[in-house]
Amino acid sequence: MVEANIMSNQTASRFQEIDYSNLGFGKYFSDHVFEADNIDNVWSSGVLKQYSPMSIEPGMSTLHYGQTIFEGLKAYRDLKNGGVNIFRPEMNSRRLNRSAKRLCMPQYLEENFLDAIKQLVIRDKRFIPNERGQSLYIRPLLFGDGNFLGVHPSDSYKLLIMTSPVASYYEEGLKPLKILVSHEYARTVRGGLGAAKTAANYAASLYAAKKAKQEGYSQVLWLDGVSMEYIDEVGAMNIVFVIDNKIITPALDSGTILAGVTRDTVIQLSKDFGYEVEERRIKVSEVFDSHKKGTLQEVFGTGTAAIISPVGQLTYNDKDIVINNMEIGPVAQKFYDTILGLVHGEIEDKNNWNLHLDI
Ligand code: COI
Repeated sequence: MVEANIMSNQTASRFQEIDYSNLGFGKYFSDHVFEADNIDNVWSSGVLKQYSPMSIEPGMSTLHYGQTIFEGLKAYRDLKNGGVNIFRPEMNSRRLNRSAKRLCMPQYLEENFLDAIKQLVIRDKRFIPNERGQSLYIRPLLFGDGNFLGVHPSDSYKLLIMTSPVASYYEEGLKPLKILVSHEYARTVRGGLGAAKTAANYAASLYAAKKAKQEGYSQVLWLDGVSMEYIDEVGAMNIVFVIDNKIITPALDSGTILAGVTRDTVIQLSKDFGYEVEERRIKVSEVFDSHKKGTLQEVFGTGTAAIISPVGQLTYNDKDIVINNMEIGPVAQKFYDTILGLVHGEIEDKNNWNLHLDI
């Protein structure tokens, strides 16, 4: 891969600015980005460049009409064997291409995607945190960069991949979250963009999330935007319920839910653990009824950024339920421990989920 404008010895690295004792999520960026351009459906070979400001025109269509998609994956230090593990990157490549199709954007070859990510992680290896549970978050971003005001797909696109050393997504860490079930606002609707990882879904979430935060909640749980009865997802993560010893999570066939990589990992691990799994529609009333009956054991979110995040309280129409005494439950803990063990190379990777780099 060509390396353009790579950090020279004279340029100060961003590394010195990072407070590794207070990483948070997405506050810092590493020194380099991968960049590839697509013009009239032909991709450039891609270069590694220094992370730096970009110049854009006021007429850039994506700023107006939102033709932009992204991904999120992580590179972890292998604490047992040395080197680095990138967790299930091919899943992100496939999802990027599904989102691209939905947003009328060009496909990017999986082989090139994996190569770009490897080169970037190798180049900025020193940014990967050493602590267990922390990682280098990798953020691919694809957007139309044509300049015009008519509403139509762009004829040129840019793929950028940046990285950010991160700790926990939530300030709460593994402490159970308080979540507000929104009966007023919707993230998406049937036939909309909900299954694509695109900016519009996150923009749609901001107002309700801001109001929820003002009321003391960490996140919003979205219902289907048609009947407002069935549970979709949290936005920054998918949602899982443990009811009557069964693992239940909303099915993807509504087309309104993001197909999370951690969601898929939890479903596959559940089968290994001998848990019964149901991917199906689930009404918010079923969750509240099962709490009343005493069969709602746990609720937790799954996501690349969030990993596993226990939910300790759900509020819907001014009614609160407290789950597992506001404590992380044994099922969420088992998934959290197993996933961390896998990504850090401490547990045997029977499914070949890690792309291991001996660096
Ligand atoms: C992720 O889990 O990678 C996400 O994209 C969630 C959020 C930071 C937008």
